[in-house]
Amino acid sequence: MKNLHLQHEIEIIVGDESHEEFFFRLEADTTWESLPDDKRNISRDEFHERLKQTHHEMLAFRGHVIFIAINKTTGEKMGLLWFGPRFNPLSCEEEAWIYNLTVLPEYRGCGVGKVLMRHAEIHAHSQNYDSIGLMVSSHNEGARALYNKLHYSESNIIMRKVLPVDAE
Ligand SMILES: CC(C)(COP(=O)(O)OP(=O)(O)OC[C@H]1O[C@@H](n2cnc3c(N)ncnc32)[C@H](O)[C@@H]1OP(=O)(O)O)[C@@H](O)C(=O)NCCC(=O)NCCS
Repeated sequence: MKNLHLQHEIEIIVGDESHEEFFFRLEADTTWESLPDDKRNISRDEFHERLKQTHHEMLAFRGHVIFIAINKTTGEKMGLLWFGPRFNPLSCEEEAWIYNLTVLPEYRGCGVGKVLMRHAEIHAHSQNYDSIGLMVSSHNEGARALYNKLHYSESNIIMRKVLPVDAE
């Protein structure tokens, strides 16, 4: 599948209840991978359940939508993007936000991520947003390469320190 460019074979649909299992599986896997080590102090299953509850509530908010990439020929689901508004505490404005982007491992490198991102950008523009943002883990080089390629640039960097403070 690698190196096969699938872009003309990708259809984007809006997810509904029938895609819930697909959504929660991919969403939970990607979020787990993005977690800093000190936050992996619970089991993966426990984390999935916690996430499911929170995300159920978030998805019910106005403007949240899951876009699903489908292979037109086979009907298989290849990946998803979770789009929604987000309050930016710096500008005090609502902005367009990509909460999650995940492509199934067997479809990576085929242009699916790029098509989903473009779809989200067009959707955001049609909703009168003048920019679109996302958060990506520093260690996620693959995703960062994709975003750079699509002309996303760093705007703010989140910094953390694990407590308690050690002797310095
Ligand atoms: C990141 C991810 C969504 C990319 O999806 P994808 O469908 O494989 O990406 P595409 O095939 O559309 O790649 C588009 C471009 O991004 C770049 N790119 C994508 N993945 C890359 C990687 N792992 N390493 C380097 N560059 C990469 C390439 O330059 C590619 O350009 P090309 O079209 O000239 O080949 C996918 O790897 C994934 O689901 N990863 C796990 C979940 C994740 O980390 N999500 C992001 C959370 S913020």
